[in-house]
Amino acid sequence: MEMRVSVREIGREDRVALWEWRQDPITRALFPCDPAITYERHRRWFDCAMTAGDVVWCVGLVETLRIGCVRFDQMNPTEYHVSLFLKPPYCGKGYGRVFLQAAIEFLKARRPIRKLVAQVKNANPASGTLFQEAGFSIANEGHHLRCELMCDVPSSAMHGVTVASGEA
Ligand SMILES: CC(C)(COP(=O)(O)OP(=O)(O)OC[C@H]1O[C@@H](n2cnc3c(N)ncnc32)[C@H](O)[C@@H]1OP(=O)(O)O)[C@@H](O)C(=O)NCCC(=O)NCCS
Repeated sequence: MEMRVSVREIGREDRVALWEWRQDPITRALFPCDPAITYERHRRWFDCAMTAGDVVWCVGLVETLRIGCVRFDQMNPTEYHVSLFLKPPYCGKGYGRVFLQAAIEFLKARRPIRKLVAQVKNANPASGTLFQEAGFSIANEGHHLRCELMCDVPSSAMHGVTVASGEA
């Protein structure tokens, strides 16, 4: 059966859900850093990130149910760091791949992108496979994998974007 994941921009109504998903012990262990996060701290972080112009953040939906989120943090005008996590009941069922593709399309429809980068713990092989299957190149950097995807940017989308020399 075809798996369908739709994507929408994150909103305030997702704030509590994200904090709850993030408390899952397996999810916490797989993130590059694992601080204990109080809801108050989460609220400040969430509100700040949601209003930041350098973040594109989306929620994945199966029908009307939220399954996780993908966040793109802008590192320079055309390069973004990707992080992805699924709500625990949706892990291990193949949703991550479909969601990641849909989220990348969501980003491409809004921003000119040349490069996506993700950092994945070595202890998280499902995540490494996911990025590899999405076309990212994988480099082992010791405790983590660096995943990179180069994207073609239509020249029309580059209007007004200044790219640092050496990156064009
Ligand atoms: C990591 C995560 C995004 C993976 O998404 P998912 O949909 O659960 O992924 P799946 O378990 O379906 O596996 C994806 C692929 O990895 C493969 N895989 C799973 N476990 C594996 C392992 N131990 N070794 C190698 N490959 C593995 C699967 O076979 C699948 O490949 P396929 O598509 O060719 O069948 C999701 O489980 C998640 O959000 N986990 C918690 C938070 C997290 O780790 N976030 C990522 C931080 S960068």
